[in-house]
Amino acid sequence: MQEKQLQTLLDSLTWTEKVGQLIQLSGEFFNTEGMAVGPQQKLGISDEILANVGSVLNVTGAEKTKEIQERFLSQSTHKIPLLFMADIIYGYRTIFPIPLGLGATWNPELIESAYQVLGKEARSGGAHVTFAPMVDLVRDARWGRCLESTGEDPLLNSHFARSMVNGIQHQFDSMGIASCIKHFAAYGAAEAGREYNTVDMSERRLREDYLPSYQAGVDAGAKMVMTSFNTYDGMPVTGNEFLLKNVLRDEWGFDGVIISDYAAVKELIDHGVAKDNFEATTLAMQATNDIDMKSPCYATALLPLIKDGKIDEELVNQAVYRVLKLKNDLGLFEDATRGASAAKETELLLHDSHRQLAKQVSSEAMVLLENKNQLLPLTPNQDKVLLVGPYGDNQELIGLWAVHGKTQDTVSILSGLKNYLDDEHLSFEKGSDMLDSYDFLGEFGAPKEMIDSLKMTPEAQAEALEKAVTLGEKADVIIYALGEHTMQSGEAGSRTDLRLPDVQRRFLKKMIALGKKNILIAISGRPLILTEEQRQMDAIIAAWFPGTEGGSALADIIFGKVNPSGRLSMSFPYTVGQLPIYYNGFKTGRPATTSNHSGRFVSKYLDAPNEPLYPFGYGLSYHQSQLSELTLSETEMTDSLTISLEVSNLSQVAGTDTIQLYIQDVVGSVVRPVKELKQFKKITLAGHETKTISFTLTRDELRFYTKSMAFAAEPGEFLIFVENGQQQVTAKFDLI
Ligand code: BGC
Repeated sequence: MQEKQLQTLLDSLTWTEKVGQLIQLSGEFFNTEGMAVGPQQKLGISDEILANVGSVLNVTGAEKTKEIQERFLSQSTHKIPLLFMADIIYGYRTIFPIPLGLGATWNPELIESAYQVLGKEARSGGAHVTFAPMVDLVRDARWGRCLESTGEDPLLNSHFARSMVNGIQHQFDSMGIASCIKHFAAYGAAEAGREYNTVDMSERRLREDYLPSYQAGVDAGAKMVMTSFNTYDGMPVTGNEFLLKNVLRDEWGFDGVIISDYAAVKELIDHGVAKDNFEATTLAMQATNDIDMKSPCYATALLPLIKDGKIDEELVNQAVYRVLKLKNDLGLFEDATRGASAAKETELLLHDSHRQLAKQVSSEAMVLLENKNQLLPLTPNQDKVLLVGPYGDNQELIGLWAVHGKTQDTVSILSGLKNYLDDEHLSFEKGSDMLDSYDFLGEFGAPKEMIDSLKMTPEAQAEALEKAVTLGEKADVIIYALGEHTMQSGEAGSRTDLRLPDVQRRFLKKMIALGKKNILIAISGRPLILTEEQRQMDAIIAAWFPGTEGGSALADIIFGKVNPSGRLSMSFPYTVGQLPIYYNGFKTGRPATTSNHSGRFVSKYLDAPNEPLYPFGYGLSYHQSQLSELTLSETEMTDSLTISLEVSNLSQVAGTDTIQLYIQDVVGSVVRPVKELKQFKKITLAGHETKTISFTLTRDELRFYTKSMAFAAEPGEFLIFVENGQQQVTAKFDLI
């Protein structure tokens, strides 16, 4: 449809029809007979609004979406199609690793291909928009939604934001769907890592650390943005004019659709900035929030506000126009069931090539944290291997937010190991329960009988332990598949004890006493605290929730078919008391190691190191590389300079390195971080190969928000650090 026709369509709508476009309801409102009555009454939504609703939340599947769309249109006056939006976060049916793992690949190009697959599969299932990527910067592992983030660095997150949006919207007209960047803004900075808690920070920190990834997604052309639940500077984002209107729309030029997060308009009342639905609606509309997701506010208050002249009609018209434009961009007026096809679903979902890609992504995501005496890789059918732990023979490897994925499609760790070990060399015993108590699942609606059935009885537990010990005595190597329960991370998964669950640690202690070679596979949706395990284990692999091909990818790493290349994109703390912890903090007046103040009176803890157990950028491989010959094209920079160095593989085995370039601005008009990532390169070296690589660093990359809030580079001294995850080489230059 031409834009002119869209305007004509908009002009022809009644106010009720317009308001309908701004409302999103979930699947329970749509059933085969028509609209459901229960939820409708609960939200106080009139029949009229319901008949004109604009979008549907989390209904997917070609048959189902088509059926709902066709029925809806047959009853509609203006034949404006519904938009189907869904949470397709890191895979539709083929599930990739959780985004925290995707961050650890440091490979945005690869992740762009993964998100193309996500888009293609989702489109066949009738989705028009995915609420992805989540690009919130995270620094506090207590927050359960670390799972959905690519990590703690603004630059790395921006690369992934861009590549994910590009992947999802790739060949938009024939293959892609629309991407919705979320959760704007700074949702990851919830105080104390407690879900939905307050966010308060300086505008300088907001702009420098938290906003870049959203802006990168917007610049990549994301068609939608979702508001976050948190406050920023005293105002919940859904009603925050500074963030939505001034920054997102006016500064960044975003003219796509803004949607509130689930019930966030209504929550303006709970936050205490609105007294009722009318005030909440007014705040959200004035901030230019277009769609109200799953709250009664717009549905009950917008029409009366318009009729009483209490809201600017132009604001409403602009919001409706943006929604209609998105429908038009998607081609829905020409083809309301765009791409939804049961035949395509059969052809595409879990296609072999998708599984292959998932396996590659999964193996690039895993991070080898320890490998004492080069225990790994193992040789197939050489040692007697015992696999133990609740994740050993378990397909629950896709994590909480793989809403449309199915665990039965997943390759378990046990099946993966069977690719390399025959029955004589591999045994399995669960050995330990996952948790001491599953009662918390009651909050997710799990019935008591189900909860009770999950827990191993004390007798079963004792028997499993005994079997594990007996098998362990005969084994050379024990692989422990341990970690968090799926429900312990993700949304509303904040926790304060980030060690392995107690029951698993008790089990580990008993097994360690056998004195065998020990390998830990840590399954988690966040950085865990592995301080005890670092001492106990010979090797540790952070495997995240590794997705559909998790077990096969892991086995390829354990047996050296793949040389691990993952590097952490979020610090693993030494203890929970260090949180929030991140590599790019500001300098302090009393740095722990270089201050003139003696002993006690420096910035440090009395009972723990300042450093995390495993820092951002860290990770081991089976080869050993060395950085040398760091040279700068000049020692004074005007517009740019070239940094070159040699990277040598000291081992026989080929391997991939992520070479990371950091800077420190030594003196600024405001305090600067101790280190800031500026560029990185993934390079592959054959055995004993040396490559010369170079980075061109520009003046623009040295900009920051100065004392006067100008975004500018300030002349003076800069340090350069180049790292490979284990070694650092340094240089310095002056910006003139
Ligand atoms: C989450 C969003 C999600 C939405 C819709 C909310 O609770 O915060 O990330 O997209 O629900 O399911």
